[in-house]
Amino acid sequence: MSTTRRTTSTRPWIAGVATVVLAIGVASCGGGGSELSELAQRGKNTANSNGCASCHGSNGQGGVGPTWVDLAGSEVVLKVPEDEGGGTRTVTADDEYLLRAILEPAVEEVDGYTVKMPTNGLSEAEADDVIAYIKELTSDG
Ligand code: HEC
Repeated sequence: MSTTRRTTSTRPWIAGVATVVLAIGVASCGGGGSELSELAQRGKNTANSNGCASCHGSNGQGGVGPTWVDLAGSEVVLKVPEDEGGGTRTVTADDEYLLRAILEPAVEEVDGYTVKMPTNGLSEAEADDVIAYIKELTSDG
């Protein structure tokens, strides 16, 4: 008489993988899944229809370019051109900085990126909308 032993093959790694996938899914929602204001939604549409999303992500999560999440008000390290002494300088990403970063991408160059941001055809009003969007992209919702 043999006693059948039920072998339950537990695969803890599956749970691990599922957790990681879930975490990535949540993180890629950018602003923590929070609702955007009408203005910010317009800015998001502008960014997505002007090619910004291909480098900054369709939810501002970044990619080839820096993330927009928690960018507004943060400290950004910029490259100083060689003919101005080289090295880096730190600025606060206020509205003025963001506007310049969008409208004159060659002037403000974030340190650590080999890809240069191309110029774009955004008007100042459109750039303002994108800035409103960037400001609502915070990791704490
Ligand atoms: C080909 C890729 C590419 C595209 C397209 C692109 N960017 Fe960028 N962007 C970058 C890179 C790389 C940087 C960082 C280096 C630099 O500042 O040039 C950057 C920097 C920025 C910054 C400053 C980020 C920071 O951390 O301070 C803003 C704001 C920004 N981009 C907005 C835009 C907007 C708005 C558009 C669309 C109109 C756009 N970008 C399109 C690649 C891109």
